[in-house]
Amino acid sequence: KTVSYDFNVTWVTANPDGMVDRKVIGINGAWPLPVIEVDKGDQLVVNMYNGLGDKSTSIHWHGMFQNGTNEMDGASMFTQCPIPPGSSFTYNFTVDQNGTYWYHCHTDYCYPDGYRQALIVHDADAPFVNDYKEEFTITLSDWYHDMMEDLSTEFMSLYNPSGAEPIPNSFLMNDGQNQTFKVEPNTSYLLRIINTGNFIAQYIYIEGLNMTIVEVDGVYTEPQEADVLYIHIAQRYSVIVTTGNSTDINYKIVTVADSDLMDGIPSDLQLNNTNWLVLNENAPLDQAVVTAATSDDLVAFDDFTLVPTDGMALLPEPDIQINVTVYMVNLMTGYNYAELNNITYTIPKVPSLYTAMSAGDLRTEEVVYGEYTHPIVLKHNQVVEVVLNNGDSGSHPFHLHGHNFQVIQREPPIGPLFNSYLDGDPIGYDPDNHTAFPAIPIRRDVIVLPPQGFVVMRFVADNPGVWAFHCHIDWHMASGLAMTFVEAPELIPTHVTIPDDHFAACAAAAVPTVGN
Ligand code: C2O
Repeated sequence: KTVSYDFNVTWVTANPDGMVDRKVIGINGAWPLPVIEVDKGDQLVVNMYNGLGDKSTSIHWHGMFQNGTNEMDGASMFTQCPIPPGSSFTYNFTVDQNGTYWYHCHTDYCYPDGYRQALIVHDADAPFVNDYKEEFTITLSDWYHDMMEDLSTEFMSLYNPSGAEPIPNSFLMNDGQNQTFKVEPNTSYLLRIINTGNFIAQYIYIEGLNMTIVEVDGVYTEPQEADVLYIHIAQRYSVIVTTGNSTDINYKIVTVADSDLMDGIPSDLQLNNTNWLVLNENAPLDQAVVTAATSDDLVAFDDFTLVPTDGMALLPEPDIQINVTVYMVNLMTGYNYAELNNITYTIPKVPSLYTAMSAGDLRTEEVVYGEYTHPIVLKHNQVVEVVLNNGDSGSHPFHLHGHNFQVIQREPPIGPLFNSYLDGDPIGYDPDNHTAFPAIPIRRDVIVLPPQGFVVMRFVADNPGVWAFHCHIDWHMASGLAMTFVEAPELIPTHVTIPDDHFAACAAAAVPTVGN
């Protein structure tokens, strides 16, 4: 079936933490934004009108592979021009994946102004479909009282020589605080948990209940129990929880922001949020916020140990290995920038996809994409290995468009050692000295690159197109922590057709000023 939405994107006012009214990006006059729900196999059509008046925009369907529809990926200046105020654009693609995704603006500094929400793909054949009575979608996010436009000006200014990222003012669940979900005793529920924030990873646990993980970033997994999850920006987990006999209690859902990511924590910033699975509406909620748990006390589940139910074996030795190291560079230049190796990603004048489609025989030459887009041209069906080293003491949630990837090694693991690397030297990947790779590695589309650590991942270049690979923290992406995979460019012209509204958008955008 076809599922259609008309999105009129405008500024509206909201106050999700009860502290400050601010302008947020709304759809059809409302915020929080509509959760998109489709069934696997549906055609999703979203007609977007940019009614913001002062800001360009786009929509990325986070986690959708867009195989054959690269031009619908929504990544400004990778696959399209940003849509200027007063223009429309129609996204139209087939959803042939399943699980928990989200959609968000993918133009410079825009999704943290509220332009993000869950995208759920239901699947009647999911292995856990009969194991729960009802499902709830839970989004976690950090929240700023100031507009991204103002925060980014400060972030990039001379007055911020250390490159410190702006500290959020609060943390939200489902775009509010103190959320409740009505449940019954002795009953199982599926919770789909998504971090739709800009910057801060969060821990989540439910007092008195185990969580059984069954899905991660759209990949179904063999069920595994977890007490505490660590969910970085753009990551998703589905878990099943089963309530007990008693009808007198309500279960406390606790989220804890990862304080290690922030340079200096204001005394009035509340890192914990308390929300509820409510069994008994008459039992008073104990509103006391949990203060005992700080992120340093929590030992989170290690996603590296998850096993996909489809049993996809470890990919063979790579045809190409790409070795990149993250550096955050703050040289009192008045510009905070980040590098992968020695390249700070800078938006091109023309979306890289259009370059791939118009460069003729030169399209396989990296030079035509511009060195500053950090292009890597891949051959069709190559096994690609990316070794991502972290020269920085912060963790970075890296996301690959168009694919998920096998995670075959990571140091240090998420768990007790995770934060002990904060002050150490970078540990760098040593190919001659690695532990055995898992026979059936987890696949996901966002991986946490640990502080001073590394991640090794593999994927098959079976999706011709231009795909962004970047840190999902908007501050870091805007600082240039991104690169471009140009996959089998000779096959793109037969693979995708550019609809007319793309060219209208580029013409109207004339001078593209926004890029990630
Ligand atoms: Cu969630 Cu490049 O995006």
